[in-house]
Amino acid sequence: CGIVGYIGTEDAKEILLRGLEKLEYRGYDSAGIAIANAEGVHVYKEKGRIAALRDVVDHDEAAVVGIGHTRWATHGVPSQVNAHPHQSKTSRFTIVHNGVIENYEQLRRAHLADVTMVSDTDTEIIVQLVDKFVAEGLQTEEAFRQTLSLLEGSYATALIDEEDRETIYVGKNKSPLLIGVNEGVNVIASDAMAMLQVTNEFMEIMDKEIVVVTSESVTVKTLDGEEVSRDTYIAELDSTDIEKGTYPHYMLKEIDEQPFVIRNIISKYQDENDSIKLDENIRQAVTDADRIYIIAAGTSYHAGLVGKELIEKIAGIPVETHIASEFLYNMPLLSKKPLFIFISQSGETADLRGVLVNVKEQGFKALTITNVPGSTLSREADYTLHTYAGPEIAVASTKAYTAQMAVFAILAVDAARAANVEIDFDPLQELAIVANAMEIFTNKKEEMEQIARDFMSVSRNAFFIGRSMDYHVCLEGALKLKEISYIQAEGFAGGELKHGTIALIEDGTPVIGLATQKNVNLNIRGNMKEVVARGASPCMISMEGWEDEEDTIVLPHVHEYLTPLVSVIPLQLISYYAALHRGCDVDKPRNLAKSVTVE
Ligand code: G6P
Repeated sequence: CGIVGYIGTEDAKEILLRGLEKLEYRGYDSAGIAIANAEGVHVYKEKGRIAALRDVVDHDEAAVVGIGHTRWATHGVPSQVNAHPHQSKTSRFTIVHNGVIENYEQLRRAHLADVTMVSDTDTEIIVQLVDKFVAEGLQTEEAFRQTLSLLEGSYATALIDEEDRETIYVGKNKSPLLIGVNEGVNVIASDAMAMLQVTNEFMEIMDKEIVVVTSESVTVKTLDGEEVSRDTYIAELDSTDIEKGTYPHYMLKEIDEQPFVIRNIISKYQDENDSIKLDENIRQAVTDADRIYIIAAGTSYHAGLVGKELIEKIAGIPVETHIASEFLYNMPLLSKKPLFIFISQSGETADLRGVLVNVKEQGFKALTITNVPGSTLSREADYTLHTYAGPEIAVASTKAYTAQMAVFAILAVDAARAANVEIDFDPLQELAIVANAMEIFTNKKEEMEQIARDFMSVSRNAFFIGRSMDYHVCLEGALKLKEISYIQAEGFAGGELKHGTIALIEDGTPVIGLATQKNVNLNIRGNMKEVVARGASPCMISMEGWEDEEDTIVLPHVHEYLTPLVSVIPLQLISYYAALHRGCDVDKPRNLAKSVTVE
């Protein structure tokens, strides 16, 4: 979910709606705004996209204060009733909230047994509690602080009081939240991008702080009411980067941008002598570590699997890659001198942040590899490496994934050189070859579209098989297809299929095979024969050097450490066209959000 707030002199409604449009990547199940003017507080909310909300808002209603929300449902189905903002039973208080209140049932039983809840959301508890504490005699700010101190879980929340329509009360714990400041106007946003339309000067809010915002002042306090001073910073973002141009979808644009992204990474990580340019402290942290733990989710996790191979093979440092949500509650035995690498496109994923807070408490060092340098995971880690992919808007990640793997290759070689490990691999040169190979493929869209038609138009399911490095790419290829086309897909280690899953192969089941790795080339070809013998429709993707006449796609030759950056391109394009032909919403697939800021 994402939240926004505005208090100033201009049309709050339009600014909130535009802000929410920029936050739609955080969820688009429902949306709403509340605006305050001389007549009172007015709530508009609707199931579905921000566009649906725009249709129900009264565009003539003037207001200079308001809050807004776009939802990714956790508690309660996506519906108009469950959409935010929520109001207290007296309608005096109105709230928006991003996060999950874990103890809402207990709080409801303990404090609000006599209140009938209107929605099924955990959020409503916050606004009802504030109302109750005010009825018992507390001032609004005190009631807000008292309420927040009872909450367990995560929240970024903004509250307005009908009896004082010139103040917004804001609170944060675990969920991202920024306050933007300008002359006579202040704003609230889950992400700076949403409010660049008003200001580029922002203030970071820490966990368990509240902020009292008026058009002229921003006061940060602890939950005990103690005032805290906080500096502002300038967000170095360019909002023009996120236009779609002539492309029908962001996803296609972002797939096409990959060669440029890789060239951009080369230039950012190259010094004047064509050597790797990397922060000395990061080099030190990597070489000091006796083991690296890569923590990630979704597509970034798949990049982390490749990252492990690269660091182990090139730099000789042991690496484990873990799913963030598992790691936090089921930590393996840690080594003596671990380094944690958090890999995240958005830098906001709540599952990762939980781990980051935990390992920082244990005194360990953390490096974040992210596409958004000012993000929570970047600010809270010791070091950051930027993936320089430019804003990624499509929910299904493409260019961020290849950029992450490129940065891993550079990091691995830098560490190897620092430790005097002999290597015969120049990542900057090899990445330049990769960028060219990618380009050949982004220019073969018609061919990819035909493959998508041939293989995916009627199938209910699909398999992606590969071995070693290719296996990791298969996981990503299957995820891409599932996310946007809703075809059930599985990425499988080629040799493991026969131990059970091969039972699912029927006449015509599409099986996409990856064969870019020399040492397992014959083995994966053998595995493909096994499925073909059972009726599968094979689509083999190999690489120049070890191709076969029957292969459907032959990739240009690139260094074997970097094949995932190229082999994923046809998989991305096949998924894109499969989704397109099935009439799916490519950029905003059902049930998903680009940045998941709840556990
Ligand atoms: C969400 C997105 C995925 C993404 C994952 C991790 O679930 O839908 O596409 O891979 O989050 O996101 P991150 O920003 O941490 O890379």
